[in-house]
Amino acid sequence: MDQEAYLRSLLPESSDHMQQIEKFAEDHNVPIMEPLGIHFLQQMIRLKKPERILEIGAAIGYSALRMLEAAPDSRIVTIERDEIRYEEAKRNVQEADASEHIHILYGDALDMSEKVAEHAPYDLLFIDAAKGKYEEFFDLYTPFLSEDGVIISDNVLFKGFVADDSEASKRMAKLAKKIRNYNEWLTSHPDYHTTIIPIGDGVAITTKK
Ligand SMILES: C[S@@+](CC[C@H](N)C(=O)[O-])C[C@H]1O[C@@H](n2cnc3c(N)ncnc32)[C@H](O)[C@@H]1O
Repeated sequence: MDQEAYLRSLLPESSDHMQQIEKFAEDHNVPIMEPLGIHFLQQMIRLKKPERILEIGAAIGYSALRMLEAAPDSRIVTIERDEIRYEEAKRNVQEADASEHIHILYGDALDMSEKVAEHAPYDLLFIDAAKGKYEEFFDLYTPFLSEDGVIISDNVLFKGFVADDSEASKRMAKLAKKIRNYNEWLTSHPDYHTTIIPIGDGVAITTKK
């Protein structure tokens, strides 16, 4: 058994509803966070105890619901630009009876700052949307963070292709290059400390200096 399979074998079982969403995601090719990544994110949230969370990239609401599991009193604003996923996210949130806690915005995250501002400040910004736009999301939404707000970026190792893209298709190599640029920009940013954790698809934890 490799190390990842071993770590996965230790994960607790998801609730029935979460398992249903996981199955839906698999059947319909919806990219949701990997099991080890989502558990790591939940643990970061238990440590940070955010009251307000902003998520870029809701997909079908899976990570928002998992974040709410870890911080049951929190308010989460999450943005999705794909209409079908947005509708599915709304359904999943309603089914979980979580509509009071999770507010889903429909549209391109790069155009949503006015609506996002209505619920600011946020204690946690979670970036998990278009991989080539992370720096733009970061610059647009970090001003809405509280003083000690934290930024978490998912997929920063992108299937291993960020470190080595020799086996990647042209399209994947292009995306990996964008993420590599983001990682370099982020880790050398004069105003932030960043650590990249090789769990799930690679998660960057960023705090203000
Ligand atoms: C990796 S999925 C999000 C998965 C979700 N966070 C989870 O783990 O359950 C990325 C989502 O971001 C959405 N997305 C990509 N770029 C976006 C943008 N500029 N604005 C809003 N949503 C975006 C995509 O439609 C996709 O559903």
